[in-house]
Amino acid sequence: MHDPAVFRSMHLARFQAAPAVFVAPGRVNLIGEHTDYAEGFVMPAAIDFATLAGISPRTDGRIVLYSENYGEERSYEASSLPAHATQHWSDYPLGVVAILAGEGHRIPGFSLSLWGDVPLGSGLSSSAAVEVATALAVGSLVGAAYPGPVLARLCQRAENEFVGASCGIMDQFISANGQQDHALLLDCRDLCVRLAPIPAPVALVIANTMVKHSGAGGDYTTRRAEVEAACAVINGHRGSVPFLRDATLDDLERWGHEMTPASLKRARHVVSENLRTVAAAEALAENNLTELGRLMAEAHWSYSREFEGSCAEADAMVELAQDLPGLIGARLTGGGFGGCTINLVEQGQAAAFASALAGRYAARFAIQPQIHICHASKGAHRIA
Ligand code: GLA
Repeated sequence: MHDPAVFRSMHLARFQAAPAVFVAPGRVNLIGEHTDYAEGFVMPAAIDFATLAGISPRTDGRIVLYSENYGEERSYEASSLPAHATQHWSDYPLGVVAILAGEGHRIPGFSLSLWGDVPLGSGLSSSAAVEVATALAVGSLVGAAYPGPVLARLCQRAENEFVGASCGIMDQFISANGQQDHALLLDCRDLCVRLAPIPAPVALVIANTMVKHSGAGGDYTTRRAEVEAACAVINGHRGSVPFLRDATLDDLERWGHEMTPASLKRARHVVSENLRTVAAAEALAENNLTELGRLMAEAHWSYSREFEGSCAEADAMVELAQDLPGLIGARLTGGGFGGCTINLVEQGQAAAFASALAGRYAARFAIQPQIHICHASKGAHRIA
């Protein structure tokens, strides 16, 4: 786990200046996949894997970025920062700086250290954690104190407009606004939130298939286009359907034949997933864990078969968990095409569950999966 004291001394030794330190968590989504950009519902929780950002001012007009994960430093004139992404880790902090500059902040020279333990490429939002930690750090330097939802939008814009990934709002929102021991039912239309308390006897067991999830690129972009094409067909008929959030299963029955088969399947997933996500929040509120587990299973197979966003390893990770003692519900979490499954497990069974699942998965694929027992954590904040 990241140690803020070690991180502080690392920054101090490298830049001869004591940093202000901020932390921003990764996330796991309990249910509601590929619904955020359709202005629908998601139910993520921030987790106890996070990125630390340390910042101190400089007097030489330079912006120096250091990533402890990559062991690499990049230095720029504050007055002439790169205008485009270069497919490098620095794209994320530079994107945030570009968006803040676009908001009218004069960006002075600074040294920024980054260090995170969110497993990279595993669908747990390491990029959003870097963006949100950077935004808090640079924001503190320029005197900008944005409310969490606004901060999240700025970071999403950094990813959309600078990095060039067409992600929705979920990851940045939960990293900025997560609540200890809670998931959030987030309405991605107006960013209203309902707290979804995670009962104390329930553990979040995150199982990494070790198949790299490729971020919001490639397949993600194709899926998003298919979703939007389905929406356009419905909107063409009855209007007032700018996003699939506004569509119903009846609409799909009625006009599905005008969509490509792929578009129709993606849309069926999104429209039904929205209903499941709201129902899951209800189930959690009523402490109806059986219903929650049922909805998670349905969500997984919709994600896999209709959205075609899973992979053989993730499907197997879900199947292998089914008859293990303590399982409440399991599904692939995040952007898809690899990454992690989320397993809600009775707390007392969590350790045994994790090792049994790891054993079964290793026997099937000859890959040792990483399995983490996580806690729903507080969103981004200053720690020193
Ligand atoms: C990625 C994106 C999110 C969301 C999920 C899928 O994590 O960054 O905006 O679309 O995929 O639910």
